[in-house]
Amino acid sequence: MRRGILTVAAVGLLTAGSLTACGNDSSGAAGRPKPKIGVILPDSASSNRWETADRRYLEAAFKAAGVDYDIQNAQNDKARFVTIAEQMITNGVTALMITNLDSGTGKAVLDKATQKGVATIDYDRPTLGGSAQYYVSFDNVAVGRLQGEGLVKCLTDKGIKTPVIAELNGSPTDNNAVQFKEGYDSVLQPRYDSKQYRKGPDQSVPEWNNTTGGTIFEQMLTQTNGRIDAVVAANDGLANAVISVLAKNKLNGKVPVTGQDADAQALQHILSGDQCMTVYKPVRTEAEAAADLAIALARGERKKTEQSFRDPKGNRNVPAVLLGAQAITKETVQDVIADGYVDKADVCTAKYAALCAQAGID
Ligand code: BGC
Repeated sequence: MRRGILTVAAVGLLTAGSLTACGNDSSGAAGRPKPKIGVILPDSASSNRWETADRRYLEAAFKAAGVDYDIQNAQNDKARFVTIAEQMITNGVTALMITNLDSGTGKAVLDKATQKGVATIDYDRPTLGGSAQYYVSFDNVAVGRLQGEGLVKCLTDKGIKTPVIAELNGSPTDNNAVQFKEGYDSVLQPRYDSKQYRKGPDQSVPEWNNTTGGTIFEQMLTQTNGRIDAVVAANDGLANAVISVLAKNKLNGKVPVTGQDADAQALQHILSGDQCMTVYKPVRTEAEAAADLAIALARGERKKTEQSFRDPKGNRNVPAVLLGAQAITKETVQDVIADGYVDKADVCTAKYAALCAQAGID
């Protein structure tokens, strides 16, 4: 069971480890500004990951390298995002890493940084038409494929025939959401075409807003007179909103729901059978790969990456690190805890203690 995670981690390490320095100054030469890295995270409500995982792992990587850093969160406010970036540039960051709120704001910030000679990285979300020197993320189409395959498996296990599938997609301004959808639709569309599955409502949730997601799902359920047999929810926050609506209608546990991010609450929902699966993205590896590049850039170095991301708007290939992810079901919840991503205490609370024991979580 642990093999999956180890494979993911090994791929990550290999990729990150294969970054090779090709600058000639590894310590920051005299006369160069002191390396300092600025990071802007998007919000703390659309997913727990940004504050509980990304910040923690980025901080650890910068501390280990002994480099100055400033990590801030734009709290889903685009004006604030731009202001934070301007302040960071004024305060002398030599590299700026952003997770954009949309490509327009992201581009404005990246262009300004570039004009001022500040190196740039897109972290997790790409800025289409932007100017980042690197992009660090996961293979997000593959993440979506895992969601689609996970849903198919749950439907098969439950013996649900010709199900009506609802799709609750992420923010339309986040290219990751577009890629997740591309991934799950690559699994589901052939089944819609062959009439094995029936396509139900399909809607995006602006800004990944979990509350809006719940409202949209409630409307989907009303429109279909409750005829929804399975739900692709693009991340765990949206899955939780869907599960709350299902619970109000006494449908939780009957209707499989997917997710993504492997947060503690989703792992609990998986143990209780309310959520069918989630996707574990080893954010530690992502953060370490991004920090590695940022540290090099901040010191005036360049590194080669083995992968690239095609920016369809900017028509350019951005040097990239794109990591692998793993589907998590009841049988593998333990792996996420063993990897140190989520604490056992946050999953195995009193209410879930018996389920944790049954699932062999130690
Ligand atoms: C990230 C997901 C996250 C979502 C909402 C996406 O860009 O890849 O991990 O759940 O944003 O914050």
